[in-house]
Amino acid sequence: MEKLINYAKDNKENFLSDLVEILKIASVSNNPDFQKDMNECAKWIEKKFNEIGLNNIKIYETEGHPIVYGDWLKAGADKPTILIYGHYDVQPTDPIELWETPPFEPTIRNNKIYARGANDDKGQIMIHIKSIETYMKTVGKLPINIKFILEGEEEIGSKHLGKFIKEHYDLLKCDYIVISDTSMYDENMPSICYGLRGITYMQIDITGPVNDLHSGSYGGGVDNPVNVLATIISKLKNEKGKILIDGFYDDVIPISEKEHKEFNRLPFNEGKFKQELKISELYGEESYTMVERMTSRPTLDCNGIWGGYQGDGTKTIIPSKAGVKISMRLVPEQDPDNIAKLFTDYVKKISPNTVKVEVSALHGGKPYSASLDSPAIKAAIVSLKKAYGVEPVYTKEGGSIPIVNTFKEILGADTLLLGFALPNENAHGPNESFDLNNYYKGINTVLYFINELSK
Ligand code: BES
Ligand code: ZN
Repeated sequence: MEKLINYAKDNKENFLSDLVEILKIASVSNNPDFQKDMNECAKWIEKKFNEIGLNNIKIYETEGHPIVYGDWLKAGADKPTILIYGHYDVQPTDPIELWETPPFEPTIRNNKIYARGANDDKGQIMIHIKSIETYMKTVGKLPINIKFILEGEEEIGSKHLGKFIKEHYDLLKCDYIVISDTSMYDENMPSICYGLRGITYMQIDITGPVNDLHSGSYGGGVDNPVNVLATIISKLKNEKGKILIDGFYDDVIPISEKEHKEFNRLPFNEGKFKQELKISELYGEESYTMVERMTSRPTLDCNGIWGGYQGDGTKTIIPSKAGVKISMRLVPEQDPDNIAKLFTDYVKKISPNTVKVEVSALHGGKPYSASLDSPAIKAAIVSLKKAYGVEPVYTKEGGSIPIVNTFKEILGADTLLLGFALPNENAHGPNESFDLNNYYKGINTVLYFINELSK
């Protein structure tokens, strides 16, 4: 172990310069304008896989963005095989004007690296790449078998990865999956995440008159898509955070007394939380704690809304069109397809006939919960303790990694969620960052982890 830890200590600059390189690539998956960058990023990873000595490296083309695979399987059949999964795609950068430095020009301030994808998920995939490099460059081999798969569509719902997993069962079959794409509970509180929320993502499109109309001439006699949309949205959820869609809560498993107690042990500083987000009041369902509201209860949120005049000054019209994008976070045992259907039926039920209302489902993923007594979790506990010097905590997270359930269903393997981001590092927002302390400690954690698993 000493050799490994020393290599990691002596190679911080190399670790950082590769992180900077991958962060310069604008691999935004939701916009065809970045197709070239997506391919460049896949190629960059392929090159790294080669440099660190993986085998069977291949870029698999899909109907969407490419999947990059590599493995090292020479540890022998008596040693475990882990599949490391991550994503090289990132969320869009808007609103761009709020970035202090450009999103694809990584910049270090206060020992944090600022760039889109810094923690979600490029910083975290580099942790694994650099840990493998450390083994290969020092001892020349790994004590366990490793398969590595990185996709480019996680941020848009992993549309093509499910099919790929089904078609490549032998290639991907493994004992455990390891994913670093979650957060630590707080600074110096290394965490093992045992649950993720699922998601159903919907869009409503409303069409009224053939084109925008003079609101003086037609107002009062022709219904207004923006007004209709506002009315529909107001009926989705009440002021107390209760979702009003018929049947929405039918399959929700209530939070157990035991879990409620566990959550209460985690510190939650209301003042700091409000101050950091510059909000004056907390929000959410009565009788649930903030941790519960944000990890273990379902939600419904508008992500974006459009319709009518958005420019400076005034314009007097009845808009022809309006629309909204809505995400619902789901908890066990809610099913994303069923929720999409309930949502559609409900919106249709409350829509007037004066306009055309179209509802479409954009993507979905099931919630995930892991058992806490797998050998991988035990190895992770020991490794986090060694790297951070403190006991890890167990958390649930409110975000989603849809493919985790597909891994379980098709490969039959559980996932260890070993995340090194911090909750206030602005994933998906402007000025996303990643703490370099956690980058280096993350690498040490994985070095220990690989060693622990081999025992
Ligand atoms: N890294 C996140 C998942 C995550 C977010 C875990 C917050 C824990 C806390 C991941 O990259 C992500 O953002 N996933 C999307 C999935 C969606 C687009 C299907 C998400 O949760 O919005
Ligand atoms: Zn993300």
